[in-house]
Amino acid sequence: MDLCSLRAPLLILAAIICCSYSLLVPLKISGVKGKYAIFPLKITDGFQPNAVKITFTNSAGEFTTVYNRVGEKVTTSSNGRAVYNQTTYEFQLGPLTPGDAGQYSFILVDTEYNMNEGQTTLEVLEPVADVVIVSSLPEAVEFNSTVVLTCSAKGSFLSYKWLNGSTTPVVVDGKHLVLNGSQLIITEVLRTDLRGSIYCVAENQLESVRSTAFNMSVSYGPESISMKKVPDEIDLKKGSNLTMSCSAVSSPAAELKWLFNGAELPDKSATLAYTNLEENQSGNYSCVAYNSKTKRYAASQVITVSIIEAISGTNVTGPISLLIAGNSTANLTCKSSMGKADSVTWFKDEKPLAASDRIIISTDKKTISIPIVQKEDAGQYKCKLSNKLSTDSSIYNMQIYYGPEKVSIEGPKKAEVVDTVVMTCKVTSIPPATYIWKFNGSLLEITTAEFKIEKPSFENSGIYTCEARNHITGLSQTATHNLLVKGEGELNDQLSSGAIAAIVIAVLVIVAIIIAVIIRKRRKPGDIASPY
Ligand SMILES: *[C@@H]1O[C@H](CO)[C@@H](O)[C@H](O)[C@H]1NC(C)=O
Ligand SMILES: *[C@@H]1O[C@H](CO)[C@@H](O)[C@H](O)[C@H]1NC(C)=O
Ligand SMILES: *[C@@H]1O[C@H](CO)[C@@H](O)[C@H](O)[C@H]1NC(C)=O
Ligand SMILES: *[C@@H]1O[C@H](CO)[C@@H](O)[C@H](O)[C@H]1NC(C)=O
Ligand SMILES: *[C@@H]1O[C@H](CO)[C@@H](O)[C@H](O)[C@H]1NC(C)=O
Ligand SMILES: *[C@@H]1O[C@H](CO)[C@@H](O)[C@H](O)[C@H]1NC(C)=O
Ligand SMILES: *[C@@H]1O[C@H](CO)[C@@H](O)[C@H](O)[C@H]1NC(C)=O
Ligand SMILES: *[C@@H]1O[C@H](CO)[C@@H](O)[C@H](O)[C@H]1NC(C)=O
Ligand SMILES: *[C@@H]1O[C@H](CO)[C@@H](O)[C@H](O)[C@H]1NC(C)=O
Ligand SMILES: *[C@@H]1O[C@H](CO)[C@@H](O)[C@H](O)[C@H]1NC(C)=O
Repeated sequence: MDLCSLRAPLLILAAIICCSYSLLVPLKISGVKGKYAIFPLKITDGFQPNAVKITFTNSAGEFTTVYNRVGEKVTTSSNGRAVYNQTTYEFQLGPLTPGDAGQYSFILVDTEYNMNEGQTTLEVLEPVADVVIVSSLPEAVEFNSTVVLTCSAKGSFLSYKWLNGSTTPVVVDGKHLVLNGSQLIITEVLRTDLRGSIYCVAENQLESVRSTAFNMSVSYGPESISMKKVPDEIDLKKGSNLTMSCSAVSSPAAELKWLFNGAELPDKSATLAYTNLEENQSGNYSCVAYNSKTKRYAASQVITVSIIEAISGTNVTGPISLLIAGNSTANLTCKSSMGKADSVTWFKDEKPLAASDRIIISTDKKTISIPIVQKEDAGQYKCKLSNKLSTDSSIYNMQIYYGPEKVSIEGPKKAEVVDTVVMTCKVTSIPPATYIWKFNGSLLEITTAEFKIEKPSFENSGIYTCEARNHITGLSQTATHNLLVKGEGELNDQLSSGAIAAIVIAVLVIVAIIIAVIIRKRRKPGDIASPY
């Protein structure tokens, strides 16, 4: 029996017994194209449907009976696409096609002709598929680029969510990060923004599909550029090694350039290694980093290097000719065979030597001049050359020839014939003087400083002359000495000059007393006035 023939009486019945039982079906049901839509029927307890009729009206208003059952007899117009389960009261339709969208009516009647009915609308959604993130830019520059990520997906009624990493939702702030429909707009992108994987999730009420991970390189830098130098010192010994390295925070890695005194060096690597340094490598070094993507530059601080040669082979040169006090000029010049000196210091006999009215020190301090040397200038001269790395010195011994000076003869003035007379000619002279002795003007055959006469005779009395001669200075000086030779014992009997003086004084005193007495005696009677 066709349920269709029952339609009129059933509708009448429905009108009579309306609402005695209400069949609940959700007002709207969704299903995804190619999948199944489930219509859950909520049947009141105790209601036992015997006949079920499900009809469909599409958007064009065309009407079909999808499913019809009376007792055990089922008719369906949908090639097995419509299944009703009498136990669970679930109606299932599918695989869905877009043509399945429309109105579904349900009429259930039990054996006592109680009726339950309901209506619902089926929505057939396109499946969510092909979810991908599309970037407005293939690559971005930090601070410059605005990156628009579009979540592209197939499907109907989609909404979008963004994930930073696989689970953390992206938090938008309305400024740097803005959501606009399927777009995530990142203004003035930061290097960290897209570092983790970004996902977008496209979903409707039935499905949720996540995109594959998206990551994009954001170029940044160069920044935090730093230059290091090994060894650390500014002053380096000639011949030593120097390594400089440059680094900068940059993505992609920065291109490096080296500058030496402002001029570009051919080296492009991150380290500059020099061995066996030369003095002409002294100067200012710096490095510059360039990022070809961001088109930005960064310059390091300038490092100054000073390559200094250690001082060696210091030597003081002085006059070749002999130096004569009061006549010669002495110039001492200090030089080193290697290395440049920053300071020159002179010492004489270990004491610092300063310029004076007799000693001139040249402006470069390397030469000292003594226009007229004196004997005090003799001694040890030391020249000390220093630079930041080393010190070297050299010694010059200056010999000054002078004299003879202060010639004198030491010896007795008087002697007895039995004595031994020693006369010594005293003189200061460098080199030591040679001597010539004369007696009463005639040359003696004596050439030593000391002249000895044993048991002199009376003929030895007279004038002795010593002539001291310095063969270097060519100067000579003489001294004379009188010698009186007496007989044996004669010198001892003679009164000493002190005794003679005492006797003379005593005689004078006595004479004075006598004179005084005589004057007194004359005065006493002299009370008588003079006749004149
Ligand atoms: C109806 O649903 C029940 C429970 O899910 C199941 O056991 C039964 O086989 C279904 N009947 C039909 C005809 O599909
Ligand atoms: C949001 O997207 C719409 C359409 O794509 C566009 O017209 C609008 O300008 C966007 N708004 C912002 C703030 O980008
Ligand atoms: C993703 O997370 C990282 C780390 O928390 C953050 O720095 C970055 O800005 C985030 N990116 C976005 C687009 O939210
Ligand atoms: C994302 O990063 C990973 C690892 O760095 C890389 O293998 C992958 O190709 C990147 N994907 C994109 C879309 O850049
Ligand atoms: C400098 O480097 C060279 C080559 O690497 C090495 O042979 C030499 O010993 C180094 N000199 C110094 C002073 O370190
Ligand atoms: C190195 O830099 C210093 C200080 O900036 C400057 O005085 C000096 O002239 C520079 N040297 C050279 C060789 O350019
Ligand atoms: C970044 O922006 C500045 C100023 O807006 C511009 O001059 C520069 O060319 C930009 N850099 C790049 C790499 O686009
Ligand atoms: C200095 O020496 C020169 C020659 O050696 C000589 O002609 C001159 O007279 C000397 N002068 C003095 C003051 O000794
Ligand atoms: C010594 O030096 C002075 C200048 O300091 C110079 O005039 C003089 O000619 C020099 N004398 C000698 C002998 O070199
Ligand atoms: C030496 O001279 C002194 C005084 O001029 C004289 O008394 C003496 O006799 C002289 N002696 C000789 C040996 O000529």
